[in-house]
Formats: sequence, C-alpha cells, structure tokens
Amino acid sequence: MFGSSTSSIPEVRPVPRHVAIIMDGNGRWAKKRFLPRVAGHKKGLGTVRDVVAGCQELGVEFLTLFAFSTENWRRPQEEVSFLMDLFLSALENEVDRLHSNNIRLKVIGDRSRFAPRIVERIKAAEQRTAANAGLVLTIAADYGGRWDVLHAVNQLIAEGAQTISEDALLDRLSMSYAPEPDLFIRTGGEQRISNFLLWQLAYSELYFTDLLWPDFDKRALNEAVQSYRRRERRFGRASEQLPSSLRRD
Ligand code: IPE
Ligand code: IPE
Ligand code: MG
Repeated sequence: MFGSSTSSIPEVRPVPRHVAIIMDGNGRWAKKRFLPRVAGHKKGLGTVRDVVAGCQELGVEFLTLFAFSTENWRRPQEEVSFLMDLFLSALENEVDRLHSNNIRLKVIGDRSRFAPRIVERIKAAEQRTAANAGLVLTIAADYGGRWDVLHAVNQLIAEGAQTISEDALLDRLSMSYAPEPDLFIRTGGEQRISNFLLWQLAYSELYFTDLLWPDFDKRALNEAVQSYRRRERRFGRASEQLPSSLRRD
C-alpha cells in the first residue's frame, strides 16, 4: 500500500516512479494523411510499444495508459467496434512480448460493457503476467475517474461504512496497487484531464505536448521526463522548507 500525497509527503526521485498518459490525437494524425481515423489508432499501438520500452530503459516502475474512456462509447459505432477489435488483438498478440520482458499487465475500468471474449483475455493476460517483477503496465479501458471514485464509495457503503477515510477509499480505488502518478502526460495538444485519474492526479506534475500520439516516441518521453526533473514539487510547503537537492531556484 502506497501513501497518499495528501496524508504524507511522497519521496521525490529524479525518475518518475509512475507515469500516466492520455494517448490523444490518433484521429487527427489520420485526418492529416487523408486516412480513416482508425488508421491513427492502429499506428498508435506502435507508439505504445516504443513508450513501454522507453519506460523500462528509464527505470519507470508504473506506466498507465488511457486507452478508452467511459465517454468514448459516444463515438460512432464503427470506431468503437474497431477499438474493441484492436484491444482484443493486442491482448492476443502482445502479451507474449510483455511477459518475456517481465512486465506485469493490469487493466482498470468497468468491464461490464465489454464482450465476454475481451473480459476472458484480460483475466488471462493479468494472471499470466501477475508474478512479473518489472514494469507494471496498466491499461485504462472503459475507465473514468468519476466511475472509479463512485465505485469505491459504493463498495464502502455496501460494506456498511458510515464515514469514509482517505485510506479506506484509496484501498478500493482501481489503482490501489500503485503510487499516485508523478508525471502526467497528454499528447495531442488539448490541456484537459478528460475524466482520467481524478483522485490520484492531486499532486502530479502535468505535461502537455502538441505531438499527436502516433508521432510520440521514446525521445519525446525523455523530453517529458527532463521537464519533470526541472519541476519543484512542494506538496503545499514553502520552497525554503525543501532539502536543497529538491529546490529548483
Ligand atoms: C485517442 O485519439 C484515442 C482514443 C480516445 C481511443 P483520438 O481518437 O481521441 O484522436 P483525436 O483526438 O480525435 O485526434
Ligand atoms: C481522452 O481522449 C480519452 C483517451 C485518450 C482514451 P478524448 O479524445 O476522448 O478526450 P476529449 O473528448 O477530447 O476530452
Ligand atoms: Mg481525442
């Protein structure tokens, strides 16, 4: 169990322990090339491989990727079906590679709307990689920050809770196995959270880039980490209170 940034001050390291990314801009990448939007999603899978490798090389411990939001069901049905097929084929074709790279795969989100085949594959992939001790790769699929908090609260109510403590809530959030993200990245130029990890982003460093997700790569990841290193993470304190190694003046 990791501490919360509001109940204790987390240790700040030069390399972020947890990087969380909104992979945005696939549709625009395709549009610029006069291709159907789905071509951008396909290309985006290649970026996922590169960024996973980049995180392993940097020594990042947790990488969380936003693949499909609770609001993405509002998209045209053909696009949703394509994304589901892509997710299924990734679960079928990528897990061997992840496993041989010692990566532990986790999928967070509401699985109730997925086809049974996808749910089975998710379980199988999680079980297969559960004992791996390398990078923890989390895919957020049919995930919403509000869903996550409400789900945790409803669970507590069902358990008979009268009041809710931060620790009790944290324990029931879908990412209770990970520390809060140190670094949040969003590609594609938009500067918003779009219902990603609302609770956990309280003290994350935010990084936005205009690069579209299919154009993002290890090098761009390194630039984001360089920017992260220049940040002064105060967690509410005055700059003068920080150890000199963490001051950025
Ligand atoms: C992100 O790219 C992928 C998903 C949301 C599944 P988009 O599909 O949102 O691409 P843009 O924002 O339309 O360019
Ligand atoms: C956020 O991107 C969700 C994912 C990348 C999975 P969107 O493209 O759905 O976000 P909005 O609609 O522009 O806020
Ligand atoms: Mg988008």
